[in-house]
Amino acid sequence: MACRVFLVSFLLLLAASPAISTNSEGAVLRALKARLSDPSNVLQSWDASLVNPCTWFHVTCDAHNRVIRLDLGNSNVSGPLAPELGHLQDLQYLELYGNNFEGRIPEELGNLKSLISMDLYGNRLEGGIPKSFAKLKSLRFLRLNNNKLSGSIPRELVTLSNLKIFDVSNNDLCGTIPIDGPFATFPLQSFDNNSRLNGPELQGLVPYDFGC
Ligand SMILES: *[C@@H]1O[C@H](CO)[C@@H](O)[C@H](O)[C@H]1NC(C)=O
Ligand SMILES: *[C@@H]1O[C@H](CO)[C@@H](O)[C@H](O)[C@H]1NC(C)=O
Repeated sequence: MACRVFLVSFLLLLAASPAISTNSEGAVLRALKARLSDPSNVLQSWDASLVNPCTWFHVTCDAHNRVIRLDLGNSNVSGPLAPELGHLQDLQYLELYGNNFEGRIPEELGNLKSLISMDLYGNRLEGGIPKSFAKLKSLRFLRLNNNKLSGSIPRELVTLSNLKIFDVSNNDLCGTIPIDGPFATFPLQSFDNNSRLNGPELQGLVPYDFGC
């Protein structure tokens, strides 16, 4: 009984302490690191014993010690993208380009409600573009080019009214290119070299996913 009371007060303390709640963001990043191969030791400073991840290299926090940037472009890391990344509620910049990230893009990344920029280009990602990205209402830059992504471009993305740059060139996408919302402004080069992607949708026609 005393033991249970102790446990409950410990859990209350955990819930109340901001230091520990930011350390849960450290745990998220450690989950990413745990699955990666890091031959150039770029993640060496990711020390779990620190009170939060804000002093780690490639991680930037705001004044409240919340992670707002993850900068691992051209870092020679390989492995899967951890779904846990979706818990970084204040993340604005997810910069993971030019590595050997592989496997599917976790749909949990659609929970990054503060995200402004997601750069996953130049990896070996496969599978589809998650429909959950339609929840990224602050997103301005989405670059997924030079991967091995397949499937169609989710129509749901036409609701991303802040999206300024969208690049899915050099993948294996199929279907048609949406024309509504921000898609009215993206140049055709953003869609280059997807052998089964068939031009912009025709106005007024229900999109038909050729070969998808
Ligand atoms: C990248 O990793 C490979 C091993 O996978 C290693 O041989 C190479 O030296 C690394 N490149 C850099 C720039 O660290
Ligand atoms: C087209 O995209 C594929 C997949 O990313 C890539 O391997 C290939 O080199 C690209 N081809 C050209 C001409 O850029």
